[in-house]
Amino acid sequence: MPAEDGIAEAAAVLRAGGLVAFPTETVYGLGANALDARATARIFEAKQRPSFDPLITHLADVADLTGLVGPVPEAVAALAERFWPGPLTLIVDRPAAIPPIVTSGLASMAVRVPDEPSARALIAAAGVPVAAPSANRFGQLSPTRAEHVVAGLGAAVDVVLDGGSTRCGIESTIVDARGEHPVVLRLGALPVEALVEAVGPVTVRPGSSGQPVAPGTLAAHYAPRTPLQLVDGVDPLAGGGGRRGLLAFRQRPAGGDWAAVEVLSPSGDLTVAAARLFDALHRLDAAGVTAIVAERVPDVGVGRAINDRLGRAAATWRGHR
Ligand code: TXA
Ligand code: MG
Repeated sequence: MPAEDGIAEAAAVLRAGGLVAFPTETVYGLGANALDARATARIFEAKQRPSFDPLITHLADVADLTGLVGPVPEAVAALAERFWPGPLTLIVDRPAAIPPIVTSGLASMAVRVPDEPSARALIAAAGVPVAAPSANRFGQLSPTRAEHVVAGLGAAVDVVLDGGSTRCGIESTIVDARGEHPVVLRLGALPVEALVEAVGPVTVRPGSSGQPVAPGTLAAHYAPRTPLQLVDGVDPLAGGGGRRGLLAFRQRPAGGDWAAVEVLSPSGDLTVAAARLFDALHRLDAAGVTAIVAERVPDVGVGRAINDRLGRAAATWRGHR
């Protein structure tokens, strides 16, 4: 149902221990009452998500942070003030009110305030913090439209709020600012450059192992069902042999016999490219092509997060060959 019309009903479903998929500015989330261990257990079931992969807790308002977790380190508070509501997830100590299943047993907790009015209205109406990973099956393409959620999770979700296409199209940037220097655990919709401008130097540590630090940073993740190859520029002569699909950054190459082509941004706007990334991959995945060739984008701003996601999708398929 349309997001605005369904908020009261969806909030009641959350309070009753149900699952609600809802739009945020990044991707659609699969939400449950974060204070309710049984409700959050249903998220792991619906997504077929391993229990070692912790969830992000979503709040309606910046002011709700200290209400839930108490005092936070100065740098964490400063980032929250500066970038919330917005596509930034911060790491804090897990408060006692949040059951350990939400954080996969970690003493820390990921939290953010999404910059999407209907999402904040939903959380406020529910009156509880909302644990929500991306609303897709574990390891698969992230959902940027309600149709992606329904196709991927279907009956496992009690309510799907439809807010159209999400604005950013790529997940939040995750930062641990509890130590001396902020550490970026996952590249995302908030560019590293914006963080540096606000707080000075940061360390980017895209973990690549199976450590429970940030499985969104597992080497293999965000994968289409079709084998994907990441290239540094499309060789116009190589082409698709009539059976392969192309994810191009700015333009369709003149030559080549591609079965399907998606262009992310003809003007070369990386923000536009990020917003279209997963939708384009969902379409290529449904196009019946034998392989997807994806062109790397410039490695600046949100382009770093785009390349990060494409690299992990490609890594998934390297593992299968
Ligand atoms: O934009 C987003 O962040 C979306 C929307 C729905 O808010 N959510 C999202 O959730 O991307 P998910 O579950 O797909 O990715 C959350 C990431 C995972 O890689 C998880 O490991 C990491 O956050 N994470 C959660 N708690 C953590 C913690 N305490 N320490 C480090 N990483 C954590
Ligand atoms: Mg995810």
